[in-house]
Amino acid sequence: MTQDELKALVGRAALDYVVPGSVVGVGTGSTVNCFIDALASVKGRIAGAVSSSLQSTARLQALGIRVFDANELTGIPVYVDGADEIDAAGFMVKGGGAALTREKIVADLAERFVCIADESKLVAVMGNFPLPVEVIPMAAAQVTRRFAAAFGGVATLRAGVTTDNGNVLLDVRGLALTDPLAMETEINQWPGVVTVGIFARHRARVCLLGTTQGVRRLSFD
Ligand code: 5RP
Repeated sequence: MTQDELKALVGRAALDYVVPGSVVGVGTGSTVNCFIDALASVKGRIAGAVSSSLQSTARLQALGIRVFDANELTGIPVYVDGADEIDAAGFMVKGGGAALTREKIVADLAERFVCIADESKLVAVMGNFPLPVEVIPMAAAQVTRRFAAAFGGVATLRAGVTTDNGNVLLDVRGLALTDPLAMETEINQWPGVVTVGIFARHRARVCLLGTTQGVRRLSFD
């Protein structure tokens, strides 16, 4: 199976976690696009979706799925999203698609994060994928220095990218995320950091991993 076929497989498998009558949290990225396409087949059985990016909102609306503003909701049962890396505890690195802040907001509304990914995303220790960090533009240089001093990481500005929230992105190389929870907590305190792409506090509870043998279901509860 090709990587695209694996993404389509897990996108369809995630329908099993959609709660009838509810608002579904929808992430961002090429794997989630497959989930959105699958969601269209059950759109009459859900109240709608809450989206983590302008890109996903446009795709949902084009398929006739109602998109709620996050501020209209007090909670949702399930959030479905991809990941750039996921480890054996369900901790993730996200933000390759620049949507990490809204992704964390929607994940925070959800009772359960269902991660959909192809098997290349499952790693023993995260950090090979450059860690995305959304920052207020005037803090970019100082946050870059902090990464070097605190973790020996090398941060570079993602050229030509402005987030949906009007901020810039740093991609940090040279990190080994041996304690994702502690690292997320520390980086969250740095002035000017809007969101770090470590999803430890908002880790996955389930991961549907696309493999050549089919969908492998990992549970982290
Ligand atoms: C976007 C994300 C995506 O979930 C992540 O980049 C994975 O994307 P894809 O499914 O295209 O591999 O965090 O900000």
